[in-house]
Amino acid sequence: MADQVHVSQHPLVMHKLALLRSDVTKPKKFRELVREIAQLLFYEATQDLTLAPLTVQTPLAPCAGYEVAERVGVIPILRAGLGMSAAIIEILPTVHVWHLGLYRDHETLQPVTYYNKLPSEPNIDLSLIVDPMLATGGSAVAAVEILKRWGARRIKFLGLIAAPEGVQHLSAAHPDVPIYLAAIDSHLDERGYIVPGLGDAGDRQFGTG
Ligand code: PRP
Ligand code: URA
Repeated sequence: MADQVHVSQHPLVMHKLALLRSDVTKPKKFRELVREIAQLLFYEATQDLTLAPLTVQTPLAPCAGYEVAERVGVIPILRAGLGMSAAIIEILPTVHVWHLGLYRDHETLQPVTYYNKLPSEPNIDLSLIVDPMLATGGSAVAAVEILKRWGARRIKFLGLIAAPEGVQHLSAAHPDVPIYLAAIDSHLDERGYIVPGLGDAGDRQFGTG
């Protein structure tokens, strides 16, 4: 596996991922698990964030501390990425969230862009694309291309489950983009679904299956 592909080995991620995959997990619990796993993966993906020193006043004395010095942008790919961006803004409230609407054409499996809420100028230091499923990789590759054309310099991809085909596609097209995942599964089926996967991540979050 390429150096830039990180698959979490954290026991909590593994435990919650099994619950997420289960076909008896209902949308409410599914959304909670997406939120929890996304926060754990975000923690792993941001170990290298730059800090700036500061001083806070405790009730007893001044105390040296730190604050995040980078402007972090989270880019959820609609619609399934929404649960992950909502999770991340909870634990780092200073993030900017810029929405990108992409869907996979069911026949061709090619990504179609239908919404782009990026501001005209890049105003973030680190761009984190979030989407639970990296299947063929078409949507993730398209999202990175949009961000690079926009002028983003440091980009990371955060997903929950990938197919080997998607990891290969994204890392070959953009070897400079680290990929953080909870699991890499066996393969894609003939409809482009990840096996064993979890089904349709958007439908399972929003009850539209
Ligand atoms: C899913 C998923 C990714 C994409 C992955 O979205 O959330 O965006 O498919 O597939 P790929 O790697 O083959 O491009 P979908 O198109 O189902 O849209 P939705 O989030 O609106 O349900
Ligand atoms: N999108 C999903 O939601 N699930 C898959 O398995 C593949 C693409």
